[in-house]
Amino acid sequence: MDQIVFHYDTVLSDIHMHRASGRHLMTRLNGVGQPVFMSTFKILAEGHDNNDPGRGVEKKEECEDPKEAEGKDTKPTQGQDRKEGGEINVAPFLDEDGDLDITHRPRKKSLDGCHRDLVCPVILKQSEPVLEQDENLDDDVGHCFKDVIKIEHTMATTLEDVGKQVWRGAFLLADFILSETVAFRGSTVLDLGAGTGLTSIIMATMAKTVYCTDVGEDLLNMCKRNVTLNKHMMEPAGGDVRVRQLDWLQHGLCTDADVEFSWTDEEVADLYNNTNFIIAADVCYDDDLTDGLFRTLYKLCSNFPHTCTIFFAIEKRMNFTLRHMDVSCEAYDHFSHCLSQLQDQMDGQCSFKVEQLPANFTQFLLYERIEHLELWKVTATPLFGEKARSDSEQISS
Ligand SMILES: C[S@@+](CC[C@H](N)C(=O)[O-])C[C@H]1O[C@@H](n2cnc3c(N)ncnc32)[C@H](O)[C@@H]1O
Repeated sequence: MDQIVFHYDTVLSDIHMHRASGRHLMTRLNGVGQPVFMSTFKILAEGHDNNDPGRGVEKKEECEDPKEAEGKDTKPTQGQDRKEGGEINVAPFLDEDGDLDITHRPRKKSLDGCHRDLVCPVILKQSEPVLEQDENLDDDVGHCFKDVIKIEHTMATTLEDVGKQVWRGAFLLADFILSETVAFRGSTVLDLGAGTGLTSIIMATMAKTVYCTDVGEDLLNMCKRNVTLNKHMMEPAGGDVRVRQLDWLQHGLCTDADVEFSWTDEEVADLYNNTNFIIAADVCYDDDLTDGLFRTLYKLCSNFPHTCTIFFAIEKRMNFTLRHMDVSCEAYDHFSHCLSQLQDQMDGQCSFKVEQLPANFTQFLLYERIEHLELWKVTATPLFGEKARSDSEQISS
């Protein structure tokens, strides 16, 4: 492959864009010929207290480049002369037409505090993924560190392949999971639109079973490989991640044994009988898909015999639109609309309580927790179950 082609609708996640230098190794090409990269993310043992405004994670991790420090303020740049006594005389250069001709300063440090390197991919191998832990990949990050999660992903995808990147919402949700270990311990969890599987893997460090779901064989294969690569993290708690297909635009779950990533009857029963939590990170970016997602949630929760709690992580992405002649976030507005509809619906089957949670919990992963990252909690309570329970309570009292 000589060149990576970027289409006009290509998107690149901030998580991959702002990673410090280093680990941009293309490990292989996936089944459809896309370059696959490996990123390693460290889980900070202490975490970072977001209530302490003086301790920005970016600041804490800032790494001073000695070469840059050495050269700092010593040489005048274009348009700068040193006057006697060392004071800089800023004389902008003009080009032949009299326009300002400014040479840009050398690039400043990236958000992580280190230089952002050019991505110079090196193909290590070109093959179908082997679904077992790969010694060479372990060498890449030392060994199987319990606090290092290794994720294979692609970079700069079109919208239909966004699940092959890790998004900031996944990091916010992962932080929340890591700060609520007691609540999630031993639970059964459904991860919707799980993408590379990062949130499912983190969840399985405490949950009993995580159904890690998405669509597309390609993506699900990548996700399954990530689960295998990180089994060292889940082993201590015995958490089990099952990568399965769950399409918000389809009715029901595929139980055809000949189809990869289909569900067994036991799994379907377990999902309906035991799911305590549903998690979804960065899944609302297209209104039709958001509608499908909320329909799926509604159908699932109204068939659960028990209360289930849903957590959404969402990034409010502001865009300027000609239609509004202003910045707006239509995908977020549609998400809010769907939340209110869920809360307001009264069909006697299930009630939904919606609340936004403050995103001030401890930060365990390194990323910029911008104010537009939000966490929402929806509590779904089946009314029939509640009624049955209150009836039986009446009987027993
Ligand atoms: C922006 S990505 C988020 C991935 C991951 N949760 C994260 O935050 O890194 C949105 C995810 O929704 C999934 N998705 C899109 N349409 C879907 C559908 N019809 N059914 C299930 N998942 C879908 C995509 O495949 C993708 O993985």
